Amino acid sequence: MIMANNEKLITQLEESRILNKEDFVHLIAHHTEEEAQFLFARARTVRERVFGKSVYLRGLIEISNFCANDCYYCGIRRSNATADRYRLSEEEILTCCEEGYRLGFRTFVMQGGEDAYFTDDILTHLIRNIKARFPDCAITLSLGERTKERYQKYFDAGADRYLLRHETANAQHYSQLHPAWMSHARRIQCLWDLKEIGYQVGTGFMVGTPYQTAELLAEDMLFIKELQPQMVGIGPFVPHHATPFANESGGTAELTLFMLGLLRLMMPELLLPSTTALGTIDKTGREKGLLAGANVVMPNLSPVSVRKKYDLYDNKICTGDESAQCVNCLEIRIAATGYRVELGRGDAPGWKR
Ligand code: SAM
Ligand code: FES
Repeated sequence: MIMANNEKLITQLEESRILNKEDFVHLIAHHTEEEAQFLFARARTVRERVFGKSVYLRGLIEISNFCANDCYYCGIRRSNATADRYRLSEEEILTCCEEGYRLGFRTFVMQGGEDAYFTDDILTHLIRNIKARFPDCAITLSLGERTKERYQKYFDAGADRYLLRHETANAQHYSQLHPAWMSHARRIQCLWDLKEIGYQVGTGFMVGTPYQTAELLAEDMLFIKELQPQMVGIGPFVPHHATPFANESGGTAELTLFMLGLLRLMMPELLLPSTTALGTIDKTGREKGLLAGANVVMPNLSPVSVRKKYDLYDNKICTGDESAQCVNCLEIRIAATGYRVELGRGDAPGWKR
């Protein structure tokens, strides 16, 4: 019976922490709602064994929406002439950190497009300043592709973690999502460089991008297993009206949740965010993500004046609320799942810098 077979595969994944590609494809392409619930129950057991009931918070500061890249899916791509561009000053970023610190955050994630304004001098100054003012906080960067030497400078200045989604493990698929001058090999090399330097590394992908298949998602799983990152950010692809993919369909919450569950079983110690994109396509998506194996949420600490401008996809949630309101709302949502917010840096298990 198919159902028994899938439950067997899920149990096998939990026990051996890997499946072959065909088995991943089978699970991803052919599962029932009952089998998904079976997966989520196993994923919760595994996450509670490692992390208890804790959910880690990271404060997201969207420092710039200028971007040199031109990803076909992204609302802040450089060819989108309708994007209302902004970048935050060091003062503004520090104000966000102060507010975040007051609210209990001990990780700040500085994310932005690939903005040449943020030179190494500007960035290292900023990183040192944040570390001097908030020495008990972790700094995560998510600023795209740079050379290893540049990543090393930020690490030496005090950055602890780096998020760079691989987007897809397959070079041919990558070329369908990006212009020809953007290189899959370079992006993957960046991830290995970050690991070698000693960052806690986050990678990830969108679920439901155009041309994605179960085979490609299986390749993502195998790539992640090989890379052994500390964090994996996945969320549904959500179309943006002013991009080449405006008329494509978006990813589903159902498949995103299923992939979260698989990731939790494959790598029990992963930091797995329940993403804003998931909360955007499903009102209780972030809660469902936590119940499928996720253990991190990343509330927005960006100034309200710029939130709508960091417009990666249509209908993005949490663009009108003050940081304090967002944290409040998330605490209530997390409590409703039976989990609880854990304040603190929330490093990967056993991690020492
Ligand atoms: N520039 C950095 C980089 O390339 O990693 C960080 C910012 S980038 C906007 C952050 C992530 O947003 C991307 O890795 C991508 O997966 C996600 N993203 C972009 N457009 C999206 C869309 N339309 N739907 C869902 N996620 C999207
Ligand atoms: Fe921002 Fe709910 S998390 S309003």
